[in-house]
Amino acid sequence: MSSAAKTPKVPLAGRTAVITGAASGIGRAVAIRLAGMGCPLALADHNGEGLEETADLVGVPVTIKQLDVRDRGAMMAWAAEVAEWAPAPIGLVFNNAGVTAIQSIAEGSPEDDEWVTEINFGGVVNGVRAFLPILLEQNSGAIVNTSSVFGLVGMPNQSAYCASKFAVRGYTDSLRQELRGTGVSAANVHPGGIKTDIVANARFHSDPRGRYETKDEMTASFAEMAQTTPERAAEVIVDGVERGRARILIGADARVFDILARVTPSRYYDVLERGQALIERAQDRRRARG
Ligand SMILES: NC(=O)c1ccc[n+]([C@@H]2O[C@H](COP(=O)([O-])OP(=O)(O)OC[C@H]3O[C@@H](n4cnc5c(N)ncnc54)[C@H](O)[C@@H]3O)[C@@H](O)[C@H]2O)c1
Repeated sequence: MSSAAKTPKVPLAGRTAVITGAASGIGRAVAIRLAGMGCPLALADHNGEGLEETADLVGVPVTIKQLDVRDRGAMMAWAAEVAEWAPAPIGLVFNNAGVTAIQSIAEGSPEDDEWVTEINFGGVVNGVRAFLPILLEQNSGAIVNTSSVFGLVGMPNQSAYCASKFAVRGYTDSLRQELRGTGVSAANVHPGGIKTDIVANARFHSDPRGRYETKDEMTASFAEMAQTTPERAAEVIVDGVERGRARILIGADARVFDILARVTPSRYYDVLERGQALIERAQDRRRARG
């Protein structure tokens, strides 16, 4: 157990946790980790089946809601229900639901850009609007919003995703300043590659380097490249929130992205592209060896 867990700046143990995108991946892993700390859980996702699976795994008081985070009315109504239900004050609101589309700006679908920005940024804004009044009323708790390493650097064929994740970062930083002097905090999470269904659930049009023809190929490559498990991501997130961190980087790759964005803010992609080519050559060699 870390020393931060003994004297947390933001106590989470035993407090109610609110999580969107809880049907899979990082959201599910955070739910399971917080359940281990005795937190009652209010979980939402648009995937009802996945939500029920998560609820079956946690073994603590849990309420689940199938909703679309883009629907502000549904998010406001859910927050009212959670406030009524919560067996303990809310310790954490984790606005985490997200998607991506892999497409160029010149040839991409505007509808898929909107899908990404409305879920990733609009969903976070709806979550903050819905739950912030409850946290301010109790004068405690953390709003934790999932950005990405792609909220630190711009990447080709990820324009809407990067824009949405930069927006989450800016919005959360603004929120944090507004919360100074209150008992409520706000943090950004910047995961590197985490082994989840994010690419499998993506809308795929074209890989920027013309390497992958299909989403299945890209999903397989991502599964090999992503270094961090959702369980490890959950551990880093919960520890970072308890320590009162404003920005929580997950994985060695996230730290590399962060450093590159600062050291070479206009040339980072040159370095990243070379690194990616090296990793892909290693993947090819592994496949050739069978
Ligand atoms: N996996 C990674 O490498 C990685 C890296 C950086 C950031 N992230 C971010 O982490 C967050 C969690 O993603 P993940 O990696 O666990 O992927 P995931 O696909 O396993 O989980 C995303 C969850 O969001 C839900 N969701 C999608 N659209 C929704 C909507 N409109 N309303 C409600 N729920 C919706 C999905 O059903 C799913 O359960 C996302 O915001 C993602 O952008 C992931």
